[in-house]
Amino acid sequence: MGDIPFSKFLSTSQQRVDRQLETLLSDNEGPASQLFAALRYSVFSGGKRIRPVLAYAAAHALESINQDTDRVAAAIELVHAYSLIHDDLPAMDDDDLRRGKPTCHIAFNEATAILAGDALQTLAFEQLTTLENTSPETTLRIIASLAKAAGVQGMVAGQAIDIAAVNGTPTLEELEHMHRQKTGAMIVASITMGALSTGKATEQQLDSLTSYGEAIGLAFQVQDDILDVTANTAMLGKQQGADQAMNKPTYTSLLGLDGAREKATQLQKDALDALSDFDQHADQLRAIADYIVNRNY
Ligand code: IPE
Ligand code: IPE
Ligand code: MG
Ligand code: MG
Ligand code: MG
Repeated sequence: MGDIPFSKFLSTSQQRVDRQLETLLSDNEGPASQLFAALRYSVFSGGKRIRPVLAYAAAHALESINQDTDRVAAAIELVHAYSLIHDDLPAMDDDDLRRGKPTCHIAFNEATAILAGDALQTLAFEQLTTLENTSPETTLRIIASLAKAAGVQGMVAGQAIDIAAVNGTPTLEELEHMHRQKTGAMIVASITMGALSTGKATEQQLDSLTSYGEAIGLAFQVQDDILDVTANTAMLGKQQGADQAMNKPTYTSLLGLDGAREKATQLQKDALDALSDFDQHADQLRAIADYIVNRNY
């Protein structure tokens, strides 16, 4: 039997994670109402939800999406939303536009944006304490995966390298290391956490999914760098040319546009190779690899 079309899988997954996020971020009229408004503003602003979709696709590859997959997917998106709010702050990328709207610190203020990021991050970990179907060992493994991917062994370290690299010319190896930490680690975690949420992933399957994730995780940031050069601001929903304006080393600045595109295509192949032991239930993961490399926003 064939699998459902990717477009349908994509929209269903986006709806599922949105429902879960809605339960976590209801309106609040109390004294901290401005903070709650900022949380909702940043989480429900038209993100692609690619990391949650990856979590669902990994669980689907093991034929077992369940309510814990929803919780894991929501937790990942909360950390992602926090990372973007802080990434846009004046002290970091100093961006005014995100998803076609003013960034959080522009729509609210800097202090609220900092606090919104902090709140989203802690909410993510709180969410992971509510898993119902996984064993305590698996729950702890999921929590550790997100902590490592988001923190000093992952995204935050990558962001620190990114900031320090402004005006620099890193080697390709150094650039790749930065991308793997900055963006790749959270993407790998999305996939392994989705797989772990099923309670039935083998170590071998987790290894293969990790290899797949490393390839598409890097491809994702390569494509982000390409779009910064080739797309337009209206399509992107964020300022085109922002990397160049900040003099950031990127895949396109180091390899040129064609070189960066070749790199993305090679990584897509690597991703598909890593899934060779999986049956047609991994077709959603295969389709995501294509989506990531060919996306235009
Ligand atoms: C943007 O991520 C930041 C990077 C890690 C490159 P996305 O492109 O997934 O952003 P949204 O959530 O869809 O807006
Ligand atoms: C952001 O990378 C990665 C994060 C960890 C948030 P970028 O700075 O390239 O993301 P955009 O281009 O602003 O979305
Ligand atoms: Mg940045
Ligand atoms: Mg940025
Ligand atoms: Mg970028």
